[in-house]
Amino acid sequence: MCGIVGYVGVHDAIPILIRGLQKLEYRGYDSAGVTFLENDRLRVIKKKGRIKILDETLQELGYNTSPEHAQEGRICLGMGHTRWATHGAPSDENAHPHLSDQRHVCVIHNGIIENHLELKTFLVERGAHFVSETDSEVVAHLIEYHYLTNCNADIFSAVQAALLEIEGSYALVVLCTEHPDLLIAAKKDNPLIIGYGSDANYVASDIPALIEYTRDVLIVEDNEIAIIRKDSVHLFTVHGQVVERDSFRVDWDAEAAEKGGFEHFMMKEIFEEPTAVKATISSRIRANRIVLDGFPLDREKILRAPRIHFVACGTAYHAGCVGKNIVEKLCRIPVEVDVASEFRYKDPIITEDSIVIIISQSGETIDTLAAMREAKRRGALTISIVNVVGSSIARESDYVLYTAAGPEISVASTKAYLTQLSCIYLVAFEMANLIGTITTTEYEYYIREMIRIPDMISQMLEKQSEIQKFASEHFNAKSIFFIGRGLDYFLSMEASLKLKEISYIHSEAYPGGELKHGTIALIEKGTLVVCSLTQDRLMEKMISNISEVKARGAVVLGITMEDKQNAIRSCDETFTIPVIDPLLAPMLAVTPCQLFAYYMAVNKGCDVDKPRNLAKSVTVE
Ligand code: G6P
Repeated sequence: MCGIVGYVGVHDAIPILIRGLQKLEYRGYDSAGVTFLENDRLRVIKKKGRIKILDETLQELGYNTSPEHAQEGRICLGMGHTRWATHGAPSDENAHPHLSDQRHVCVIHNGIIENHLELKTFLVERGAHFVSETDSEVVAHLIEYHYLTNCNADIFSAVQAALLEIEGSYALVVLCTEHPDLLIAAKKDNPLIIGYGSDANYVASDIPALIEYTRDVLIVEDNEIAIIRKDSVHLFTVHGQVVERDSFRVDWDAEAAEKGGFEHFMMKEIFEEPTAVKATISSRIRANRIVLDGFPLDREKILRAPRIHFVACGTAYHAGCVGKNIVEKLCRIPVEVDVASEFRYKDPIITEDSIVIIISQSGETIDTLAAMREAKRRGALTISIVNVVGSSIARESDYVLYTAAGPEISVASTKAYLTQLSCIYLVAFEMANLIGTITTTEYEYYIREMIRIPDMISQMLEKQSEIQKFASEHFNAKSIFFIGRGLDYFLSMEASLKLKEISYIHSEAYPGGELKHGTIALIEKGTLVVCSLTQDRLMEKMISNISEVKARGAVVLGITMEDKQNAIRSCDETFTIPVIDPLLAPMLAVTPCQLFAYYMAVNKGCDVDKPRNLAKSVTVE
């Protein structure tokens, strides 16, 4: 996700900002910018593309960007930002920092302002001019509005007033031209830290940005605001009460710092799942209704479609498999799911009434892109579910629904899969509601269930050591089978892929009832079978399938809900997930499977983040 660096001190700010941004490059970004005060004059310089381009632009303008030549005194206050696009494509205008109309206020922001459209309307009616397509720009105008109208030019009160009106998530740093000695920082649901230096203080989204300068760090908590000067930091709640909290000493090395203290990006990304799911769904749920801006489907269009298609590769394909099951169940419309490399060559039955949903984390997978072009050529309406804003698939599809996973660095996809599922559920609920195949009561019930998911994932992550222990006992397995029925089968496909990708252990996913038609011949004493048991309707059948493999000597790990006692009894080991409507169970059951793959790979000493033979984004056929 986006990167933030701010500096207030005695040295040249620009080299420190550029260096800090470079240290955050691993988070992924598509544009970068800085702002600073030079003789009380505010400068904002921002560029689409790599930090190198920003650096060169600054040098062309005569600024020193090299830390070796940093001197005392000239430009001592500033902030920098790397942007990972969420609202509005990557461009110079959409890059941060964002300025208010009268240039009193400049902001950098990570997160999503959910009510930005309402706030923008309010501000435009009062004369504000917006120059970007971002949700973040609204924050600069809103703070300036309060600064000039009801806060008596008190910047702290103006930030406070703005925060009380903002809905959504933020890590925010604010520079006010009339206060050349301070930065104001605030946080809710997005990381923000303050670093204490000897002649300077720092603010950043992440430790690597400031580890070169200080290891004395304070973590800002949700709903707190800090006033940062070169020789002091004052922390308050959003309501103005003073907060006292000690800083702590960071003893990570620079590499560990990039991974947020986790050993691998994959683990860091699994731990980001609650935030990623929340960010994907919360801005699209209002007053217990799903709000998909500009959604191109209405009742007639859906009912006219002979079929709905999901097309994708790898993990995204597995999200599409879950999608097929969900959409067919809720909408009673036939759904086909295709691997993109097959779809494009199979002469697909697509008409002008077809709806094709394309899923891709990167938005650049060549097979998926080509499949989408083929669907468009045949006249279908294409809807994409994509993580990378402005990517080829996002640009070329008729409608794009962005997942808010943030950059995913580990090759094995984890949080992106969950955000893809999140979007699929929202689309399925919305379509079923539009065509009346679910009642309003059911629609509202599913939305309420969906909102509970991020906290439930957090609960499961707290007991990840159970999976760690199980993996430490079984990592020598030569072959592992994942079985399940209905949604549990589609989930098993993803669980099996994850294990293969990173631990190189052979594994297969099978529908529980199909094993006996051949594959059960491979089960022998000690064979590990991971069994997903979340579907009430199919529980008894699955328990029979467990008996079949146990009778042949298998060791069974069951993944089931806390209330499914029968299932728990029939497995050798169980990992329980919180109780949720079975329709949404894949959103919970996948996390333990990802953890299982992770610990199996770690125990085997594999290179978890960069598995052999694999690439994060496959742009060759
Ligand atoms: C590669 C990656 C997979 C990913 C697939 C599709 O094979 O290794 O992890 O699922 O591409 O990628 P996409 O970016 O289109 O979701």
